[in-house]
Amino acid sequence: MVEQTLTIIKPDAVQRHLVGKILSHIEEDGFTIVGLKMLTLQKAQAEAFYQVHRERPFFSSLTTFMSSGPVVVALLERENAIERLRELMGATDPKQAAEGTIRRRYGLDVEKNSIHGSDSPETAATEIAFFFNHLERCTP
Ligand code: RTP
Ligand code: MG
Repeated sequence: MVEQTLTIIKPDAVQRHLVGKILSHIEEDGFTIVGLKMLTLQKAQAEAFYQVHRERPFFSSLTTFMSSGPVVVALLERENAIERLRELMGATDPKQAAEGTIRRRYGLDVEKNSIHGSDSPETAATEIAFFFNHLERCTP
């Protein structure tokens, strides 16, 4: 089934000029980019985006990091997009991520792991709506 998912190229990767390489990796896997933007999240916006993690010990550090510089946000489409993007990203901790995955290649540590991907159809719908209005979705 053709699905949509949301990815964020995180501040550590944008800062290291990895936007092109990471988007290429995603496109070469068969994803179509159907929405794309660059922005800097305010701290409160990062907190809103990562609400599910508000009780976690890393919440403050994570939201400070995610609001520390520009990110690139993309709306992606392909067969089985949600699961496939998670495979392509690799495990949260780049050291545990499989060879050839984006986090293994580019991630710095468990927080500065270069990329975010939605983890279920429900979160994908919420996260897409967080960043893209209907006019910004290049779909039929
Ligand atoms: P994401 O939501 O960004 O796609 O990452 P994920 O599903 O693989 O990992 P998740 O558990 O949802 O954690 C969200 C992000 O929080 C940071 N993190 N830091 N210090 C830590 O132990 C820790 N654990 C997670 C990472 O940036 C992670 O991607
Ligand atoms: Mg997650």
